[in-house]
Amino acid sequence: MIELNVKAGHAHKQRDDAVVLPLLEGRKLTESGKALQQASGKVLPNFLRKFDCMGTFGGSRTLYDVEGTFTQRVTLLGVGDEKKLSLHKLRVLAAKAARKLERSGARDVSLFLTELNVRGASIADKVQAVAEGVELGLYRFDKYKHKKDDKHRDLRSVTIMISSRSDLDKAEAAIARARAVSAGTNLARDLSNEPGNVCTPEFLGDQAAALSHENLNVTVMDKAAIEEIGFNNLLAVNQGSAKEPRFIILDYKGGNEGDAPVALVGKGLTFDAGGISIKPGAQMDEMKFDMCGSAVVLGIFKAITAMNLPINVLGLIPSTENLLGSAAYKPGDVLVGYKKDISIEIQNTDAEGRIILSDALAYAAEQKPAEIIDFATLTGACVVALGSHATGMLGTGEKIKKDLKLSGDHTYDRVWELPMHEEYQEQIKSDIADIRNIGGRDGGTITAACFLSRFVGDVPWAHLDIAGTAWNMKGNDISAKGGTGAGVRLVVDYLARKVS
Ligand code: BES
Ligand code: ZN
Ligand code: ZN
Repeated sequence: MIELNVKAGHAHKQRDDAVVLPLLEGRKLTESGKALQQASGKVLPNFLRKFDCMGTFGGSRTLYDVEGTFTQRVTLLGVGDEKKLSLHKLRVLAAKAARKLERSGARDVSLFLTELNVRGASIADKVQAVAEGVELGLYRFDKYKHKKDDKHRDLRSVTIMISSRSDLDKAEAAIARARAVSAGTNLARDLSNEPGNVCTPEFLGDQAAALSHENLNVTVMDKAAIEEIGFNNLLAVNQGSAKEPRFIILDYKGGNEGDAPVALVGKGLTFDAGGISIKPGAQMDEMKFDMCGSAVVLGIFKAITAMNLPINVLGLIPSTENLLGSAAYKPGDVLVGYKKDISIEIQNTDAEGRIILSDALAYAAEQKPAEIIDFATLTGACVVALGSHATGMLGTGEKIKKDLKLSGDHTYDRVWELPMHEEYQEQIKSDIADIRNIGGRDGGTITAACFLSRFVGDVPWAHLDIAGTAWNMKGNDISAKGGTGAGVRLVVDYLARKVS
């Protein structure tokens, strides 16, 4: 675990192994850089004259043993045009700086990034973004590699420098929030990245139970308990698998007794081969990520318990594999699950996420929560529609969607709404049952949401289709290849705003 500190002070007085200073476009230094330049004579101006990086965003150059300083390295980090900076760019810069320093062999480093002007951002926002960038940028998943590829030395401490001592308290609180939300995101990434032979429904149950806390009660239902309560749709999908299903209930009571909770539901499909309607072989390995919805839910609980958020939250995770064993459910089968008054004709066993979610959503609605938000790697169509930069958002809860949009823009864990006009419901009509589990190729993300909508009753509800955002095989600015934890920053911010 890396130590994150905050401090007010001058760059040339820092004794850390490295000091990172921003360099604006046109080779212009900021406040801390100018102060360091005064203390160090001609070294910096001479260097800058030759500096071929120009201060463009993300580029960097390091000077060693600069006279008048106490640090071994001064790294100039290009930040581009200050007017174009955003909180997310700050997050990305911090991630880049942290990864670079890690490869340099430095152990203790200080970052002078919060003095940059970011329109509309408070000092607390900036400190939080920098701290998140460090924690998220340094994440890696290499526990199964005997020889690590990346030559680096783990950083021991990162000090986030601020200009004014009077902001120290606010900055400390911002760091605590960043730590909580990053720990939640990185937990979601870890669970997502675990291979399917390790991350089974039973494993997810154990991981959930490990989050138990004085305000968080975790119940893990095994197959017998699932049969007893009648989550028959979850059981139907589980029929093709040799591994037992689990149904996980997380009950967080941070708010007032009796306040209706926010219910969070996550798809915990630990491997999706498609079932009898088997998937093509290419990239089928990526279907170990079909439990990312559940990983996000667990990540959110990790963060909100660390933050002690004063709110009640109920988490529900149906978990199974979708395989092709001889007892597997089949196209043509008709199911009736926990919600007794809806029969479902199976037309494609690969549309299994909505099947297991139907039991969890119906159960959620029965608990009379204030609202329901579900997370699911539900449709390939969502990847086609939105790619990897926005999560698909649909649902009946207008206020939830509006607030999620705001939180998405603020955290850069973004959502984009797709419509759910009633005409789309036509596509899931069945000849033999009440509804069928696919609605044809057109509007696949929407008809999947239409299916889910049948199970939430009149509880305001938002559905987040994270199929395109939950993992990324190329990696992105703040995430290594694999699970991204998308949805954790978004919903932790959303919940925190409710109670602030
Ligand atoms: N888990 C998949 C959705 C998915 C596919 C997510 C690719 C991310 C990448 C889901 O269970 C599924 O297979 N959905 C089908 C539905 C179809 C049969 C209506 C799909 O999207 O192809
Ligand atoms: Zn599927
Ligand atoms: Zn699936």
